[in-house]
Parts: sequence; C-alpha cells; structure tokens
Amino acid sequence: MRHVNAGVTCQSCHGQIQAQGIDGADAASYKPVEQYTSLNMGWCINCHVNGYKPAEGAKLAGLTVTPEMEKAEPRKARYDCAVCHY
Ligand code: HEC
Ligand code: HEC
Ligand code: HEC
Repeated sequence: MRHVNAGVTCQSCHGQIQAQGIDGADAASYKPVEQYTSLNMGWCINCHVNGYKPAEGAKLAGLTVTPEMEKAEPRKARYDCAVCHY
C-alpha cells in the first residue's frame, strides 16, 4: 500500500506482472508468477537509500514518461531498522 500510494509501479518490483498468472481460454499462454528481483533486505534498502526514480518506474510499466517525471528527484524512504521490522 505504501509503495502503490507513493507511485512505485508494480513492474519496478515484479517485472511484467500484468502478463503473469494469466489462465484464459488459451492455457498455452499461461505464465506462472515469477520472482523478478531478489526481494532481500539489500534490495529494499538500496531503493530506499538511492530513491525511486519515477521515470524508470514508468518506463518499466510501459507508461508515458512525462517531463515532470524526468526531472523529479528520486523519492527516498526511511531505512532505520524499525520501519520494516518494528
Ligand atoms: C516495493 C515493491 C513492490 C511493489 C511496488 C509491488 N509489490 Fe507485489 N510484492 C512485493 C513483495 C516483497 C511481495 C511478497 C513476495 C513474497 O512473499 O515472496 C509481493 C507479492 C505480490 C504478489 C504475490 C505473488 C505470489 O506468488 O504469491 C503479487 C501477485 C503481487 N505482489 C502483485 C503486485 C501488483 C499487481 C502490484 C502493483 C499494484 C505490486 N505487486 C506492487 C513487492 C512489491
Ligand atoms: C523500487 C523502490 C523501492 C523498493 C524496491 C522498496 N521500497 Fe519501500 N518505499 C519506497 C518508496 C518510494 C516509499 C515511499 C516513501 C514515501 O512515502 O515518501 C517506500 C516506503 C516504504 C515503507 C513505509 C515507510 C514509512 O516511512 O512509513 C515501508 C515499511 C517500506 N517501504 C518497506 C519496504 C520493504 C520491506 C521492501 C522490500 C521487500 C521495500 N520497501 C522495497 C520505495 C521502494
Ligand atoms: C526497507 C526495509 C528494511 C529495513 C530498513 C531493514 N530491514 Fe532487515 N530485512 C528486511 C527484509 C525484507 C528481510 C528479509 C529478507 C529475506 O528473507 O531475504 C530482512 C531480514 C533481516 C534479518 C534476517 C532475519 C532472518 O531471519 O534471517 C535481520 C537480522 C535483519 N533484517 C536486521 C535488520 C537490521 C539490524 C536493520 C537496521 C540496520 C534492518 N534489518 C533494516 C527489510 C528491512
């Protein structure tokens, strides 16, 4: 929820998730949901420290990259232990 509200696109974390897990009439086109990134702690922290770049996230999601996205500061997030581990 925090990530979606902050505009982090699904594809930044999951790759082309919209094309995975589809089981329509054509079972031959079924693709299982795949792990796209390591999902380990270093991966989480790396983005929180360096910041999420909206233009990169939009590109991955196939969205139009606006000039505002291009010049936006990377969006950083907290990385103290308690923010994730309580
Ligand atoms: C900041 C990164 C991040 C973003 C953004 C994100 N997710 Fe996730 N997602 C995760 C993590 C971490 C898990 C848990 C993986 C696990 O438990 O192994 C997860 C789990 C999932 C799963 C379950 C996969 C399974 O095999 O059970 C699905 C489906 C999913 N996310 C879809 C989405 C969709 C759709 C969006 C966009 C609306 C989205 N995610 C946005 C990180 C993210
Ligand atoms: C691609 C970039 C990216 C990745 C990867 C990522 N995050 Fe985040 N995270 C963000 C952004 C951006 C925010 C929102 C910061 C804000 O609201 O200003 C955020 C916010 C959060 C928050 C809320 C922080 C607060 O201040 O309350 C938590 C908790 C969090 N992330 C946990 C995780 C965990 C756990 C992972 C790894 C499984 C992860 N994040 C991976 C970008 C990322
Ligand atoms: C942005 C979110 C985030 C922050 C901040 C964070 N962690 Fe983590 N941490 C994770 C995630 C996600 C995992 C699980 C990774 C995995 O399973 O590969 C993890 C795993 C761990 C583990 C391993 C637990 C086990 O059972 O193996 C330890 C220990 C740990 N973190 C300590 C810390 C400490 C100490 C800090 C502060 C210096 C910290 N973490 C900050 C997200 C975070």
